[in-house]
Amino acid sequence: MTTVVDRWDIHPEHRWLRGERPAAPVEFDETQGVWNVYGHAECLTALNDHTTFSSDLARLLPVGVDSSLTEGDLSQMDPPVHRKYRNLVSRAFTPRLVAAMESRVVDITRELLDRVDGAPALELASDLAYPLPVIVIAELLGVPASDRDLFRGWADDVIESFSGFSFLDDSEQGQKDIQDATARLRPLLDYMAAQLAERRRRPQDDLLSQLAEAEIDGERLTDNEIVNFANILLVTGHITTTMTLGNTVLCLDANPGQTAKVRADRSLVPGAIEEALRVLSPSAALARGTTTDVRIGGVEIPKDQIVMLWLAAANRDPLRFPDPEVYDPARDPNPHFGFGRGVHFCVGAGLARLEAKVALNALLDRFPVLRTDPERPPTFFPTPDMVGVNTLHLLTS
Ligand code: HEM
Repeated sequence: MTTVVDRWDIHPEHRWLRGERPAAPVEFDETQGVWNVYGHAECLTALNDHTTFSSDLARLLPVGVDSSLTEGDLSQMDPPVHRKYRNLVSRAFTPRLVAAMESRVVDITRELLDRVDGAPALELASDLAYPLPVIVIAELLGVPASDRDLFRGWADDVIESFSGFSFLDDSEQGQKDIQDATARLRPLLDYMAAQLAERRRRPQDDLLSQLAEAEIDGERLTDNEIVNFANILLVTGHITTTMTLGNTVLCLDANPGQTAKVRADRSLVPGAIEEALRVLSPSAALARGTTTDVRIGGVEIPKDQIVMLWLAAANRDPLRFPDPEVYDPARDPNPHFGFGRGVHFCVGAGLARLEAKVALNALLDRFPVLRTDPERPPTFFPTPDMVGVNTLHLLTS
């Protein structure tokens, strides 16, 4: 696995991707003022204990975040309120409904790949890995999939704008950076608000219309909550899936022996995707805030501290994974945290797995050769808490 990382120079600061282990499973970062948790056992403890490790972080940030931007964001809520919001959205992602989406995912994949059929090269993200999940989530929400180039521009903008600063920086410049970043969210929010207004006028058979009608404790959601909710689905539902498909292809490219096995035995495809989620985890880190003093990994963390759970490091913990640097699609068990764990476990995991499986099978079917273009190396998202391919040029001969 070191080959992928060294060959393409991924994230120099992600030292665990280079086979280096952090000195301890839990460390305090003096510069950032946060606690970093790297061990698998320690991350598991924190992910399973939402009472001590809260997702409601706003109260701990020295810089005020405009609360209108976080209303309806279930990833920032704790139980019991979290459960009520989550129930609204998880209805759209039951295993039965996800399985029913398979034929549509197959059709979209075929249409996208038809456009590059016979071409000597493709750029995996633009040609398949980006449009596929975004069309699926747009259709589910009911927003026009033809607007996907707009979503991509906005989503990239959101990632870029939130990657350049720290919420812990309470200096004047820090405040200004946050204001700028939140202002860049506005076009996406305005777009979704217009879509919602249209659904209120003319309800359709889509998730946005269902959210418009949904109630929590007898009360309708506010427009603002629905807009934020829908945006989270649109943004989190596609970027991570795009990265997962790209990362899987990159892992296979770096491991030709494994690729031959996966090509020959397609029952290994789901394992190839799970293993890519482990070794190149798109959601590399999650933030939590302590609600009480707590001892973890032999370290005492006081109350009201920000804790970063480094899933990407835990996913390579040698205490949990034998030969953690080896990319092995047949790894079993593979208890990685690619989709998180506990009450916030990814709502869209089933859909993401389905999309990645369909897309990878289609790529293997269509292209007997698929290799990275040495002249045009892959590029990666610049944020340290995300590990994923942004562009991936592939040659087909
Ligand atoms: C391979 C692709 C994906 C990855 C790697 C991924 C990763 C994650 C992770 C790590 C979490 C846990 C966050 C936490 O504990 O704070 C999460 C939560 C979430 N994901 Fe995903 N995700 C993916 C795809 C999707 C898709 C396709 C959707 C929706 C269409 C989605 C929607 C969500 C939502 C709404 C949450 C918040 C759940 C909650 O707080 O209860 N994700 N995801």
